Amino acid sequence: MDSKSKIIDIYKKKISLLKKHNKLYFENDDPKISDAEYDILKKEIINLEKKNNFLKKLNLSKAIVGSRPSNKFKKVKHLKPMLSLSNAFDKNGMKDFISKISNFLNTKGKNIEFSSEPKIDGISATLIYENGVLTKGLSRGDGVVGEDILENLKTINEIPKKIKGNNVPSLFEIRGEIYIGKKDFDNIKGNFANPRNAAGGSLRQKDSRETSKIPLKYFAYGFGAIEPMIFSTQSEFLEKIKNWGFSINPLSKTVKNLDEIEAQHSYVDSIRSSLDYDIDGLVYKVNDLKLQSRLGNTSNSPRWAVAYKFSAEKAVTKIKDIVIQVGRTGAITPVAKVEPVTVGGVVVSNATLHNEDEINRKDIRVGDTVQIQRAGDVIPQVISVDSSKRDQKSKKYIFPEKCLCGALTKKEVNKSTKKEDAVRRCLKGYECDFIAREKLKHIVSKDAFNIDGLGKKVIDQFWEIKLIRQPSDIFTINYNTIKNLDGWGELSINNLKKAIDNSKIIELDKFIFSIGIRHIGQENAKILAGFFQSISKFKDLFNSKGRKKILVNLIELDGIGEIQIESINNFFSINTNTEIVRQLINQLKIKNFKVQNKKGKFSNKTIMFTGGFEKMSRSEAKTLVENNGGKVLGAISKKLDILVIGNSKPTKKKIENAKSLNIKIILEDEWYEILNL
Ligand code: IVH
Repeated sequence: MDSKSKIIDIYKKKISLLKKHNKLYFENDDPKISDAEYDILKKEIINLEKKNNFLKKLNLSKAIVGSRPSNKFKKVKHLKPMLSLSNAFDKNGMKDFISKISNFLNTKGKNIEFSSEPKIDGISATLIYENGVLTKGLSRGDGVVGEDILENLKTINEIPKKIKGNNVPSLFEIRGEIYIGKKDFDNIKGNFANPRNAAGGSLRQKDSRETSKIPLKYFAYGFGAIEPMIFSTQSEFLEKIKNWGFSINPLSKTVKNLDEIEAQHSYVDSIRSSLDYDIDGLVYKVNDLKLQSRLGNTSNSPRWAVAYKFSAEKAVTKIKDIVIQVGRTGAITPVAKVEPVTVGGVVVSNATLHNEDEINRKDIRVGDTVQIQRAGDVIPQVISVDSSKRDQKSKKYIFPEKCLCGALTKKEVNKSTKKEDAVRRCLKGYECDFIAREKLKHIVSKDAFNIDGLGKKVIDQFWEIKLIRQPSDIFTINYNTIKNLDGWGELSINNLKKAIDNSKIIELDKFIFSIGIRHIGQENAKILAGFFQSISKFKDLFNSKGRKKILVNLIELDGIGEIQIESINNFFSINTNTEIVRQLINQLKIKNFKVQNKKGKFSNKTIMFTGGFEKMSRSEAKTLVENNGGKVLGAISKKLDILVIGNSKPTKKKIENAKSLNIKIILEDEWYEILNL
């Protein structure tokens, strides 16, 4: 080999090594070398290119573009949380969204105006301007804490560094989506699966010169903190900032009713493929900002906005088999194993059949030719059967009555509707291995313990070798065992250890959510945490005497009903469950629940409602009490301070009870006066 070929050989080897590590990092999320080692390798490649011009002509260094993102950015708390959006998938979903809003605001069918904007499939970021000058730029992070990526954001030419305009609020936070144009992406593909990944990788470069090599663009879609507030609608906000030099999506417009929403949806869907950026639906936002603030947020998303996704991609395939899966609440879900088929760029070989009733209704059988669909992150589902292609000898599918653990399953009767559930369940809790494994996956998930590096696949892997069989095992892992496992290296083990150690300190509400009591979601877990306040109080649920005492008191909590109380009772009546929770607690430091003592008109006051109001819904009334420092109770007791009576159908008995206990009573008009409405 001559020296030139030798250099090319060395160069190619280094490039393919870099590609391998990129793949491990980006696709497998399992880096095998440290950041420093990675940087050395990259530098060696660049130096070789610098010294030997002929290497550049090989055009291989695409592999370098979009090298590893850094995790060394400074963490910064957002001025206001960056929430996510709830989804709607069809006209009915949008109808629900609108009626929920009208119910909350009690607007009785009056038209509400919406701002419609494309949902850009990029990476969200927030820009903070102080006196018109860009001073901070953060990534979304977990929504509460982001990362300081200002230098990288500054490389995007379109982003104003100084706002040119009059009356710009002195504190002005602009939120938007960073993306790579489809054409630009084709030129730089490098290691990335799609433009969104490429934008993310580019934004997280340590060296902003790397970011500047990639042609990032953005669309501004909203605001965070603003002082003083000068806008009254979303559309006015977009228009103003467009004049101030921000980039606004040209397909934004206001719509007034469901028909206009549908028309805009079909129109944008029809031109979708001709746009130079990926969109996966349209975002609809209540246009009036006053109404937005009345509506407020649920724990993760605003009530005033929704992402209306484009319809799912469909494909035809054949069912090879039907198997059952057991979920963390014991729900038995039938799953069709289908002949692999590509739907929307992803190969699908499993599709859900929902439940026994659904199989019966559609008479779905093994061997059937079916249409399946896949939308966004949602699990692919079987939507219809082509019975003309059915084999005449095919037999009706008989749904198994036993869980995979062998226990008999049951269809429960819904307490409020008195109807039999469509879903069959195994009622064994942690005693069923299949449920236990799913519960572990829930415990490590984002909204629960949020343990990085311990995803579903890893739980399966650790379960198989009996390393983790119950939640407390997570915190006593023998890391030496992992060393010899496929896919684990020193770096990934250290990262896992760190993530697990960090998660040992947890808030009480997250802990209650994590243990996975049926019907206790994030919202209810918060309500319960507010009631118990400390883990030692919570532990009173473990013995039947203590539990009885507590359960009768829970009915007072607004949001906790009979269904939840029965579910808590069922959970802790099973000794295995209690023992497992006890052992988990022993491994943790559970923080007392901080009562958010919001100061306001109802500080430290308990309030209950009876009857409906003219100007607002019960939910809005509740939110108003909570935002003003008070607590809403669900039953009359000595602990109640105020009973508010709405004009529409109040309950006599409640009023009498309140009177006999000398509880203060407020009528609807006084209620509006107190709130200055
Ligand atoms: S509004 C409170 N408008 O979608 C949330 N979001 O799932 C307000 N996105 O994190 C978001 N285009 O990154 C909004 N026109 C648009 C958007 C948009 C893309 C992203 C954004 C957000 C995610 C929510």
